[in-house]
Amino acid sequence: MRVEIVTTAVQPSRPELLGPADLARWRRLRREADRDRLSTGAVLRQAVLRERAGRAVPVVRRCRGCGSTDHGEVQPAAPEDLARWRTSTSHAGGTVALAVVDCEGADVGVGLDVEAVSRTDLCIAPLVLCDGEQPPTSRWDLCGLWTAKEAVLKALGCGLHVAMTEVEVRPHAADGKPGWTAHAAGEDSRLQPLREQPCRVVDLTYVVGGSQRSAVAVTGADHTHVEHRQVASGRWLSWVESMLPDE
Ligand SMILES: CC(C)(COP(=O)(O)OP(=O)(O)OC[C@H]1O[C@@H](n2cnc3c(N)ncnc32)[C@H](O)[C@@H]1OP(=O)(O)O)[C@@H](O)C(=O)NCCC(=O)NCCS
Repeated sequence: MRVEIVTTAVQPSRPELLGPADLARWRRLRREADRDRLSTGAVLRQAVLRERAGRAVPVVRRCRGCGSTDHGEVQPAAPEDLARWRTSTSHAGGTVALAVVDCEGADVGVGLDVEAVSRTDLCIAPLVLCDGEQPPTSRWDLCGLWTAKEAVLKALGCGLHVAMTEVEVRPHAADGKPGWTAHAAGEDSRLQPLREQPCRVVDLTYVVGGSQRSAVAVTGADHTHVEHRQVASGRWLSWVESMLPDE
């Protein structure tokens, strides 16, 4: 299964490119930095899907954790588009990252997380570890586990509505990249895909570098092939121009 990770620096807001739901969320935000992050994520998702489809791809937001449409994952709205692509977004610091999986009709889920190591404290370990998992001895390792489990919960579409302690991750390297496999450790019914399907988590720290950890999880696929692309500013501007409505 091919997974593309596309990263960009946060860009100035482009409210004229946002759909009605994202525009309403954008207007509710007060801080310019939060508005820019939301706008960058939405434009990035739309541009990358448009590249694949050769047309605009309508998307919808819904949280599978609680059913809300006010927050949650964003996926293609039309069933035929959803059968081809799934997406996941994460923001940390000045970076916005998008994962797109080309699912070719398969029932897969994708979840991406990026976190700053400096925001991780060893005292949160009990909120992360399930029974039997060894406590990490460094913030670096704990942050790595956090991103792996958050990526899994995002791939399931429920986010932190399900506790990280309900998910077990076991180290597992594949395709020359370190990572984990994920397994249900608790009884929550939202973990069912982990009981029925493989879930592979790839460590993407090499993509974000330095002081951040990152991971992408894919449910329903035995193998993942991860590719990464950083969006240059020229590419961003040409995307924005191509998405502007004709005068
Ligand atoms: C989703 C969640 C894990 C994000 O964590 P985070 O580290 O703060 O943020 P990230 O930048 O990594 O991810 C944000 C993105 O996750 C995606 N996302 C949100 N909820 C999601 C969910 N349930 N499943 C998968 N992805 C989700 C969104 O695309 C969001 O970006 P966008 O709003 O710009 O589109 C976390 O906010 C969460 O689980 N929240 C659920 C609890 C909650 O919202 N409670 C309040 C209302 S009931």
